[in-house]
Amino acid sequence: MSHDDESAPSSHVADQIAGHVADALAAVAALTSMQDLDERGGAIVGKRSALAVMQRSLAGLSPDQRRDVGARLQEARRVVEEAVASRRAELLASARTQRLEADRLELGDVVVQRRPWPLTDGHAGLVSTTQAQLEDVFVAMGYEVADGPQVESDWYNFEALNIPPAHPARGMWDTFYVGLGDPETVVLRTHTSPTQVHLMESAVATGTLPIHAVAPGRCFRRDTPDARHLAVFHQIEGLVVDRGITFADLAGTIETFTRAYFGADIDSRLRPSYFPFTEPSAEFEITCTICRGEGCRTCSHTGWIELGGCGMLDPAVFDSVGIDAEEWSGFAFGFGIDRCAQMKVGLSDMRALIENDVRFLDQFA
Ligand code: DAH
Repeated sequence: MSHDDESAPSSHVADQIAGHVADALAAVAALTSMQDLDERGGAIVGKRSALAVMQRSLAGLSPDQRRDVGARLQEARRVVEEAVASRRAELLASARTQRLEADRLELGDVVVQRRPWPLTDGHAGLVSTTQAQLEDVFVAMGYEVADGPQVESDWYNFEALNIPPAHPARGMWDTFYVGLGDPETVVLRTHTSPTQVHLMESAVATGTLPIHAVAPGRCFRRDTPDARHLAVFHQIEGLVVDRGITFADLAGTIETFTRAYFGADIDSRLRPSYFPFTEPSAEFEITCTICRGEGCRTCSHTGWIELGGCGMLDPAVFDSVGIDAEEWSGFAFGFGIDRCAQMKVGLSDMRALIENDVRFLDQFA
C-alpha cells in the first residue's frame, strides 16, 4: 500500500470529522434555551451524534488508521463537548437572569403608588373631627364654645366641685398629680368639669350671666387602657346657668343632642347616678352601635354604652363661685368625645385611636 493510499482515506476522514465538528458547533451556537439543549443535545454529542456514529465504524479500519482516526475523533468530541458545556453555562446564566427579571418586585413603584413622596398633606384625626362635629351640634343649639386649662389646681378639679379633700368620691377619678407646689395640689385634670368653675367665675366677675357653653378638651386618668377607656382622652362639658332651668331642659337637651349627632335609630336613656357637683345626677347612655343593642364585648353585653354624666347644678357649687342659688339654676353634662367617635364609626376597640396606624387613620381623611 503506497503512502498516498494510506493518507487518502485519512485526509478524507479528517475532512469528514472537521465537517461534523463544524456542523456540531453551528448547532450548539443555535441552541436557544436549556430546554432546546436537553432536546437536541443528544444529536450533537450523544450516541446519536455523527461523531459517535463514526466512532462505531472504526472497527473496520486497520490498527494504524484506527489509532489515527480515533485520536482525531476524540479531539473532535472534546471540542464539541467543550462548546456544549460553555453554551450550557451561557443558557443557564440567561435563564437565571430571565427568572430574576420576571420575579423582580418594583418596590419603588409600590411605595410611590401608596405613599406619594413628598407625602400628601396630613389631615385631622378622628377625635379632632368628632370634637368639631360635636361643637357644631351645640353651636346650632345656641351654645358658645369655651376652653380651659389641662393642668388644674386641686381646687378647680375637685374642691370647687363639692369634692373636698379625702372625700370618698375622689376615688371616682384616678388622678395624675403634677410635681408642683405642695404635694397633690396640682393635677392633670381628670375631667372637663373644672371649666364649669372657670366659666361661672368669669361670668360672675364680668356680670355676664346667663351661661350656655360647651368646653371640649383633653383629660387624664391613671387608667389602664381597654376597649372603652384611654388614659389620655377627651370630654366635652356642657353648662347652662339661667333662670328657671329644670331637669326637663336637661333631658330634652340630651335627647336633642343624641338624635342630632347619632341619628334617630340610636336610643338614649338617663339612669339615676351620683356626682358630687350635681343633684339630682344621672348617667346617660346610648344604644351600643357595635351590636345595635344585642350585647357584645365592647358594651360588656349590656347593649348600652355610657357616654357621660349630667345633672342639676348643686347649690354647693354655686356657693363656691358666688352665684345666688335662689335666683339662678342650671344643669351640666360631661361626656367622652373619644367614646362618641367610637360609637359613631363603630369602633370595637378605642385603643385604635392612639396606635397611629395610617391604614386606620386614612379611613377618616
Ligand atoms: N365629670 C364627670 C366625669 O368625668 C362627668 C359629669 C357628670 C360631668 C355630671 C358633669 C355632670 O358636668 O354634671 O365623670
